[in-house]
Amino acid sequence: ILEVIATVAELESSLKPLKAKGLKIALVPTMGALHNGHLSLIAEAQKKADIVVCSIFVNPTQFTDPKDLEKYPRPLEHDIKMLTEAGCNFVFMPAVKEMYPNYPTPENWAIDLGSAEFVLEGEFRKGHYQGVTQIVFKLFDAVKPDVAFFGQKDFQQVLMIKNMVAVLNLEVQIVTCPIIRENDGLAMSSRNIHLSEADRAHSLVLSKALFFIEENYADKSIAELLAEAKAIVNTITGVELDYLTIVDGDTLLPIKEKTHKNTVALVAAKVGETRLIDNVIIN
Ligand code: PAJ
Repeated sequence: ILEVIATVAELESSLKPLKAKGLKIALVPTMGALHNGHLSLIAEAQKKADIVVCSIFVNPTQFTDPKDLEKYPRPLEHDIKMLTEAGCNFVFMPAVKEMYPNYPTPENWAIDLGSAEFVLEGEFRKGHYQGVTQIVFKLFDAVKPDVAFFGQKDFQQVLMIKNMVAVLNLEVQIVTCPIIRENDGLAMSSRNIHLSEADRAHSLVLSKALFFIEENYADKSIAELLAEAKAIVNTITGVELDYLTIVDGDTLLPIKEKTHKNTVALVAAKVGETRLIDNVIIN
């Protein structure tokens, strides 16, 4: 049975006896509007831990566009139903003031996430990863999980969280779960509901371009792969690329040689008014 919790104090007192029994606690942080991608994280957490806490919090400090924050979907009853059916143990859904008592006055938070903070999403969403790590730190501090689960969908986010864990010497294990897609290839996202029918069709060029790179990786040069993948996206008016790139999975800098190990292709684009991201790991 799912227990709904709104405050850190309540969370701590609910988890205390379970921790005392030696049960392993997993955290799955989300912003809600749950879909099968989120549920795959819950399922993985259930395999690897005894108790699963899912957090639902639309974190204002990681939004760089106030309109994006305002229109972010919040189907709370639907989310609770999904978590109940999934057999999740706790859902932590704090108010903004619970996580940021002085909101909207900003708190001091600035940590060194390495140079990869400032490329790709970090370039298009200034300060985004400071906001992400700020809230994930607060969630780790509230739950004190043994293990936390994140999706490869947000490739750079997982990297930033791992860097935070290293810099602050936190005692939590980070597990990355694969991208869950719709049958036609579109990566599941809470923002997909904003897509019009036409945008939804257009959005397919993003995964198509990534799969093209994956499938042709052995046969073409990096320059050819990128040019042809970009051409796939650019056939569709109404899809505007922010980036399409093949990078090292740690530095997030473009690779020069195909023999490079730890390679990932990433894309971000505006599809109509909705900004989408996706990636594939090459090797
Ligand atoms: P949100 O976008 O709700 O995503 C929550 C988690 O679900 C993230 O780890 C994300 O990578 C994962 N996820 C989203 N779509 C997925 C998909 N199609 N397949 C697999 N996993 C997927 O990411 C955030 O929230 C926030 O930044 C958060 C970490 C909660 C901090 O506020």
